[in-house]
Amino acid sequence: MVFAPFGLGALELRNRLVMAPMATFSSYDSGDVHPEELAYLERRSAGGLGMVIAGACGVHPTGRAFEGQWMCEHDGRIPSLRSASEAIRRGGARAVLQIHHGGRHCPQSLTGLERPWSASEVPCGKDGSVLAHAMTPEEIREVIAAFGQAARRAKEAGWDGVEIHGANGYLLQQFVSPATNRRSDEWAADTLRFPLEVLRAVRNAVGPEFVVGYRFSPTEADGYGMALTRRLLDALLREGVDYLHISLQDHRYVAEGEGDTPVLRQTAEAVAGRAPLIGVGGVRLLEDAERVLEMGADLVALGRALLVEPDWPRVVAEGRSPRLKLPRQGAADLLTLPKALLQKMLTVPGWVELED
Ligand SMILES: Cc1cc2nc3c(=O)[nH]c(=O)nc-3n(C[C@H](O)[C@H](O)[C@H](O)COP(=O)(O)O)c2cc1C
Repeated sequence: MVFAPFGLGALELRNRLVMAPMATFSSYDSGDVHPEELAYLERRSAGGLGMVIAGACGVHPTGRAFEGQWMCEHDGRIPSLRSASEAIRRGGARAVLQIHHGGRHCPQSLTGLERPWSASEVPCGKDGSVLAHAMTPEEIREVIAAFGQAARRAKEAGWDGVEIHGANGYLLQQFVSPATNRRSDEWAADTLRFPLEVLRAVRNAVGPEFVVGYRFSPTEADGYGMALTRRLLDALLREGVDYLHISLQDHRYVAEGEGDTPVLRQTAEAVAGRAPLIGVGGVRLLEDAERVLEMGADLVALGRALLVEPDWPRVVAEGRSPRLKLPRQGAADLLTLPKALLQKMLTVPGWVELED
C-alpha cells in the first residue's frame, strides 16, 4: 500500500510517502534558501519519497515567525525558491511549498512590529506580555493577496504545488478559532472566511491545474473541537482543494471530549474521499505508516523520522530497520542536516532521541 503510486490532482507520485513540512531554521538572514538546506532536501527526496513539502515559507514581511525562515514575499525570491524546487526534483520527489504567516507568533526582532498582526488583540510574545494588533480590513486584504502572490512565485519557481499553512496556531488558525478571533465584523461573523479567501486568492493566482493543499489542526487545547473542523473541511472542499493535511504529533491521538475514536479516523470519515487526506504523527516504522493508511488517510507524512533517517523509504522498502535515534557525533555530515536545524534538534525536548 505505502509503496503504491498515487495520483494527486494532476501529479503522479511514485508512492504514498510524504515529507512533512519542517522548517529548517537555516536560511540566510535575508530569507533566501541556504545551500545546506538544498543538500538536506535533495538527500531526503533521493531517499525515495513520493512528495516533499518544504516547511513554512513566509508570504509577507509581517509574518516571519522564526530565525532562518524562508521567505517568498517578493519576486526577488524566485531564484532562491527555484534552487529549492530543483534540489527536490533532482531527488525524484514532487515538490510542494508550504506558505505561511505566523500572525501573533512573530517576534519584533524579525518583523520590526511592536505589536504582531493577528485577528484580534490577544496576548502574545513568549510571556504573553505583548498584545497583538487586530488587523484592519485593509491589512487583511493585503495578507490574503500576499498568499496569492506567494503561490504564483512558487509556480514560477518550478514547484509542483503549494500547501496553505492553516495549522499549529499560526495566522489562519488565529482567524478560525473563536479563542483568538474576537472581532465583531464580518471576519468573525464567519471565522472560516479568512482561510477561504486565502484559498480563493491562491487558486486564482495559480489556475486549476496546480496542486493546492491545506494543512489544519483538528482541535485546539482551549479553543475549537471537531465540530468546527468538520465545517472548515466542508467549506474548503466546496471551495476546491487538491488535498487536506492534518497536523498531529501522534496519528493515534484521541482528543478529550471527542469520543474514543482517534481524531485522524474521525477526520478521514468527515472528508469521506472528497479529497486525498495526508495523515501524520509519530510514524517511525513501516507498520506505523500502514496504520495511518488503515485509519483512512491516503498519504502518510513523516517528519522527525526523516531527520534521523534520510533514506527511510529505501531502507524500509528493502526490509531493513530505519535508524531511530540521532548519533551524538558527526550527524550533520552523516545525515546531511543543516547545522542550525541540528542545533535545534539537540535542544528542543521531544523532537528526537539521542543514541546512547
Ligand atoms: C523541526 C521541525 C520543524 C517543523 N516545522 C513545521 C512547519 O514548518 N510547518 C508545519 O506545518 N509543521 C511543522 N512541523 C510539524 C511536522 O510537520 C509534523 O506534523 C510533526 O513533526 C509530527 O510528525 P512526526 O512525528 O513525523 O515528526 C515541524 C516539526 C519539526 C520536528
